[in-house]
Amino acid sequence: MSRNIAAGNWKMNKSIQEGVSFMDSFLSNDFPEDVNVILGVPSVSIFALSQQIKKSGKSINIAAQNCHQNTSGAFTGELSPSMIKGAGADYVILGHSERRAYFGESDDLILEKSKAALAEGLKVIFCCGEPLEVRKEMTHIEYVTNQINQSILKLNESDMQNIIIAYEPIWAIGTGETASSQQAQEMHAEIRNVIATEYGENIAAKTSILYGGSVKPANAKELFSQPDVDGGLVGGASLDAGSFAEIVFSF
Ligand code: PGA
Repeated sequence: MSRNIAAGNWKMNKSIQEGVSFMDSFLSNDFPEDVNVILGVPSVSIFALSQQIKKSGKSINIAAQNCHQNTSGAFTGELSPSMIKGAGADYVILGHSERRAYFGESDDLILEKSKAALAEGLKVIFCCGEPLEVRKEMTHIEYVTNQINQSILKLNESDMQNIIIAYEPIWAIGTGETASSQQAQEMHAEIRNVIATEYGENIAAKTSILYGGSVKPANAKELFSQPDVDGGLVGGASLDAGSFAEIVFSF
């Protein structure tokens, strides 16, 4: 069965010191063993925070929020998958709508980055989701299915088992407006169907599909109770240790 996952995405927030004090408080919780807790942190903080987690003996995972598709070379300012893995990340968030919009990341590039990350043993949190105009035109299912078809559906079966999908409608990100649990369930069921058609029912059932877009303690339980919603990718509400902990306890 797919695993319950609560993933945070700090985006470009928190200094190393702020991250460490968040973690001091967050690690005082005893989280349920059937929830995989992941925090997507700025790359400069990966090493310090993963060391801090290791010392605490807790099983919380760190994610990077991006990586380059090459293993090394003349790419000033970039980080390879092996560098983020070596720093302590086990996951990487790829294809976030902010990376697609502000850094021009295409489906092709996201596929290349995914392959490079998987080759280093990282697990990938692959993001997809439609803008508001597409939702209004009611073509959101085709739009998201196409994003998946053009990227991760080109992976082989064993790589696919290290992919977590995050459905994040762009109109719900950072806006305070959440997709209804029915809207989330409808899309997640479609995504699972697409996976089943390509890789079979067994892999589809094991793939975790997260919802993202203004998840907060007040709506997490309702969203996570949907049969095809296996958890959340949480931006704003993951910045506060107390509210992210509440979300982890919402399964
Ligand atoms: P939000 O961000 O929870 O602040 O809407 C979600 C995301 O971008 O992953």
